[in-house]
Amino acid sequence: MPDAKGPGFDYHDTLIIAHAVFASMAALITAPAAILVARYFRSRTWWFKAHIILQIVTVAFTIIFFTISTVAVASGGHGTQFVGPKKDPHHDLGLAIAILLWVEAIFGVAAHYTHTAHAITRGAFPTIKAKKSPLRHLHAWYGIFVAGLLYAGIKTGIDEWNMVADSGTLVPRGIEIAFWVIFALEIAAYVIGWFLEAFRGERKSHMISDHPTDEEKDGTPSI
Ligand code: HEM
Ligand code: HEM
Repeated sequence: MPDAKGPGFDYHDTLIIAHAVFASMAALITAPAAILVARYFRSRTWWFKAHIILQIVTVAFTIIFFTISTVAVASGGHGTQFVGPKKDPHHDLGLAIAILLWVEAIFGVAAHYTHTAHAITRGAFPTIKAKKSPLRHLHAWYGIFVAGLLYAGIKTGIDEWNMVADSGTLVPRGIEIAFWVIFALEIAAYVIGWFLEAFRGERKSHMISDHPTDEEKDGTPSI
């Protein structure tokens, strides 16, 4: 239960605010931006550079906010709270999200080094129909799953603050509303991106090339 210490934030709460800011930047800005770049701009030469830079920043933010959260929890003299009587879903989910995201980045790098024979695909959803390494398909679907978990991390983090902040304060309503609005807009943008691919895919056939940056090398778009 919160141990209210009057106005202002103590060491623990200040660290958790920093934790929440870095987590929000990763979950609501850099990761979704990287995924939307991959969805909307795959045929542009710069998409891969943008995707990888944004996701490297996401990974860096994850390392920062994860470290800050363990320091904040340890400052209460309890060590970490992943196991034992004080463990709770936000802590366990948070640990899982961090590990899954780091593994996803490794899959992404591995996917980048796979090669796919040139092939023509016709019909809707060339991204799915393309004959490419299973690692690439895995990275894309598993990436959507991780992005979903990141949103869940923010939602459970908001609830966590409301339960354990030393200041006894609640997350302002405006921040909660902003979270849901950003969440809804990003999901809508991503789903629309798939619809656009379906319509465009129906209209023209696609050349599948063997590398995400093939357009730079030989002018064939990547899918
Ligand atoms: C993707 C988003 C997030 C992830 C992956 C995450 C991860 C974590 C982890 C791993 C811990 C536990 C550290 C430990 O037991 O040593 C933790 C604790 C905590 N997080 Fe988050 N977090 C996220 C977002 C947020 C947000 C947005 C807030 C607040 C609005 C928040 C508030 C807290 C609080 C209050 C604690 C507990 C501090 C305590 O028990 O002393 N988190 N988080
Ligand atoms: C930092 C290292 C990363 C690299 C090198 C990388 C690389 C790639 C590559 C090569 C693709 C194209 C796959 C294909 O051919 O279909 C891709 C797509 C994708 N990546 Fe990453 N990625 C990285 C990190 C991440 C992370 C951390 C996430 C999730 C949070 C992620 C989510 C996605 C998603 C969802 C797609 C598919 C988007 C779509 O087409 O709708 N990536 N990435």
